[in-house]
Amino acid sequence: MPGPTTKPHGKNLFASRMAKTPKSFIREILKMTEKPEVISFAGGLPNPSLFAVEELATAARDVMADAGRAALQYSTTEGYLPLREFIAERYRQRLGLSVGPDEILITNGSQQCLDLIGKVFLDPGDPVFIERPGYLGAIQAFSLYESAFRPVPLLDDGPDIDCLKAMLEETPARLFYGVPNAQNPSGITYSEEKRRAIAAALADTGTIFVEDDAYGELRFGESSVPALKSIDRESRVLYLGSFSQLLFPGMRIGYVLMPEETRKEFLSVLERTSGSTSSLVQHVINAFIEDRSLEVSLDLARNSMASRMRALCKSLDALLPRMPFEIPQGGIYLWLGTPGISGDLAAEAAKRVGVGVVPGRLFSYPEEDIQAVRLSVSRLSTVMIREAIGRVASAWNALT
Ligand SMILES: Cc1ncc(COP(=O)(O)O)c(C=O)c1O
Repeated sequence: MPGPTTKPHGKNLFASRMAKTPKSFIREILKMTEKPEVISFAGGLPNPSLFAVEELATAARDVMADAGRAALQYSTTEGYLPLREFIAERYRQRLGLSVGPDEILITNGSQQCLDLIGKVFLDPGDPVFIERPGYLGAIQAFSLYESAFRPVPLLDDGPDIDCLKAMLEETPARLFYGVPNAQNPSGITYSEEKRRAIAAALADTGTIFVEDDAYGELRFGESSVPALKSIDRESRVLYLGSFSQLLFPGMRIGYVLMPEETRKEFLSVLERTSGSTSSLVQHVINAFIEDRSLEVSLDLARNSMASRMRALCKSLDALLPRMPFEIPQGGIYLWLGTPGISGDLAAEAAKRVGVGVVPGRLFSYPEEDIQAVRLSVSRLSTVMIREAIGRVASAWNALT
């Protein structure tokens, strides 16, 4: 009889997919942000001072008083109807999407959406196009399905379309995952032209665009660019949203707008994976946003990230004029080129002067050393930002 730690058919303890999964850099990045002496641009956690704790406590009390028994019951698989209605209405108004509550599936953060997408669409070895640099959460989620990642280079205004077309000709992918607004890690927002070009390039290829819009409502500028979901009328787009960066990441509420023909599959995998998303959390977040606290929280988050980003850009212009960057139009990330210095070396040198940055290498898979680093402004005051850029400027200037 094989023992509990021995697989009956071989000597490996774990499923073979575990060997093909990159180690968790997210955990390493989070570890780095925990050291109090480090001024850290490293993590992507939202700023906890922006969490509307009192208002959420009121919403939770109201839910328990008015609907405690319903909130403590299992949720339907698709999620709490009033919350789905709210999300559908918001997308009708904000992006002109004709979407109804039945097309929305509430999940445990958008990270679970990525996992469900992997379950529904990916067989081992299936090609997945992903921006380079790309979002670590997506690389990690899809690597569990043994995807063959194909990087699409990201330019200042979105993916390189010539490269995308050549890749589609060579091997159409199951999925193309991208973050068109204030991308993580680059801060890039795709231009409208690029969005239309992507929709045109994907037409008739069978490749689905996974549009992760975690930062769409954290835009600083006035002008808005249409979502790919609203450009592509033939539903080759799976649109993901999340309340993590907008409100409370700890509530773990994300969602996917499912085209009708995928509804059965998504519901079936969610049912088999977690049954449903926390009913209590959905009730509480719905009570919070119904009270119009969403707009207040969003204004606060947008304004405070915009002023941090302005401080960062100003310090970089003044102290590191040689290092190129695109000014982010939203979100929390800025991608800083470090010409002549590998991203790894730049991160090492920053660490020695007590500043955390993430080397570009971590955002590509298969990995390659990129001469760039990711900076996140979310948790730093403008004073700390200036101090940290002062420190890294001396450290990096000494390297060249
Ligand atoms: C690109 C991207 N997608 C999604 C999310 C949110 O993920 P979740 O909803 O699982 O917290 C983030 C988070 O910070 C992100 O950077």
